[in-house]
Amino acid sequence: MIPENTGPAAVIVLAAGAGTRMKSRTPKILHEIGGRSMVGHALLAARSVNPRQLAIVVRHERDLVARHLADVDPAAVIVDQDDIPGTGRAVEVALQALDADQHLTGTVVVTYGDVPLLSGELLAELVATHEREANAVTVLTAVLDDATGYGRILRGEDGTVTGIREHKDSSEAERLIREVNSGIYAFDAAVLRDALAHVTTDNSQGEKYLTDVLGLARESGGRVAAVVTADRWQVEGANDRVQLSALGAELNRRTVEAWMRAGVTVVDPATTWIDSSVTLDEDVRILPNTQLHGTTTVARDAVVGPDTTLTDVTIGEGATVTRTHGSGAVIGARAAVGPFTYLRPGTVLGEAGKIGAFYETKNVTIGRGSKLSHLGYAGDAEIGEDTNIGCGNITANYDGEKKHRTVIGSGVRTGSNTVFVAPVTVGDGAYSGAGAVIRKDVPAGALVLTVAAQRNTEGWVAANRPGTRSAELAQAATKDSSSTPASTEEGNQP
Ligand code: UD1
Ligand code: CA
Repeated sequence: MIPENTGPAAVIVLAAGAGTRMKSRTPKILHEIGGRSMVGHALLAARSVNPRQLAIVVRHERDLVARHLADVDPAAVIVDQDDIPGTGRAVEVALQALDADQHLTGTVVVTYGDVPLLSGELLAELVATHEREANAVTVLTAVLDDATGYGRILRGEDGTVTGIREHKDSSEAERLIREVNSGIYAFDAAVLRDALAHVTTDNSQGEKYLTDVLGLARESGGRVAAVVTADRWQVEGANDRVQLSALGAELNRRTVEAWMRAGVTVVDPATTWIDSSVTLDEDVRILPNTQLHGTTTVARDAVVGPDTTLTDVTIGEGATVTRTHGSGAVIGARAAVGPFTYLRPGTVLGEAGKIGAFYETKNVTIGRGSKLSHLGYAGDAEIGEDTNIGCGNITANYDGEKKHRTVIGSGVRTGSNTVFVAPVTVGDGAYSGAGAVIRKDVPAGALVLTVAAQRNTEGWVAANRPGTRSAELAQAATKDSSSTPASTEEGNQP
């Protein structure tokens, strides 16, 4: 939901660049860190200052980008940049689009779609400083050890900002300056509009530079100032995949630290990855090598990990999830999952229930206190409360064409290797014997057996596998006994 618009007149997010160094068929700003596209992060920061309008300038792969924007921020105004290159031109076309109804007045903020760690707090500080000092332009800057490639901040004797010089256009002396332009600014709308009309492409790159606005604003008597941030990560862009992973690691480090400060135990931050969209309660414990993605939420006192990857999973209070791979599942309070468990979408495990080792589940609702402890598959099924599903049980839900449902009641006890051939219903309190293949409904309280006769053929190994270790051991075991019948047959017991 978009908050009430009480902030600047507009935020313009620049995102027309090609991003060729990513070497990707996916547009650069759609690459993700922390489970969200770079442009998604940029738009969240932009929205957090409550602009009256939000425009995003696109050009490269514009249709792919527009489709993504429809998902992440459908209210954003998409503006297409024309053939004239440069950040100045990008802002100019956005301003023209936003001015179409009514000329903007007040503060216009410019940010980049590929600077994902910029926080709403820093952006708000930029806007507040800009408005408090009644500046024409306020630029966000940082002091870097290596400023290569960046526009340098030019300051006068008294320290006031006089302009920005692009790296490619700068002198030897200017290249020694380590204070750089982040590309993020707050402008007075009228100053920006007037200055952009005078910006030319007369520079080493033949582009309309947004940075030229600072000098022009000063010449016409406006105050130009800077907000210097000590947190370089917040102004860092990702141009290639090496920078993308560095930004992703830093974002994760910040996310994990924030959760620890909020009362979550994270045993090994270095191997714990938490998406920005995940929520955790106090006293959750995360064990090493755990990844939590998407809309995953974990309630108080739950323990997750080690070696667990969960996407869009809801975990109830006090539950434990160990060495599990899961998505789209709901795990009830005090329930236990794992180790070596595969939860697929639609799995709903009730309070104090259990899905144990080497189980795969999909589209199954399991009632309170019911246990599927070991080795099996449960799909397209409904299981009541306090039911115990024996080892190796399988719902045979697929007939080769369609999926069918299995319904199992409450208080049921199934023997090992029971197969439910769906569609089939097993009533409350029913029992099944080992190896039962249930093809027809079982009434409540019944015992179901599918009995195949057992036949022992004595002396078979000696006759058919002579000279083997088995034959030798069998001979030793039967040496003193003198059994005569060659074969016995009897029915199974459960
Ligand atoms: C720009 C700044 C530079 C600053 C640096 C910070 C200018 C002239 N230079 O340089 O002072 O230190 O950012 O990273 O502004 N974009 C468009 N349309 C365009 C060109 C760029 O939308 O025609 C967008 C890009 O998608 C990107 C941003 O603007 O998000 C910056 O573009 P980029 O080419 O990276 O600018 P730099 O030359 O690095
Ligand atoms: Ca850049």
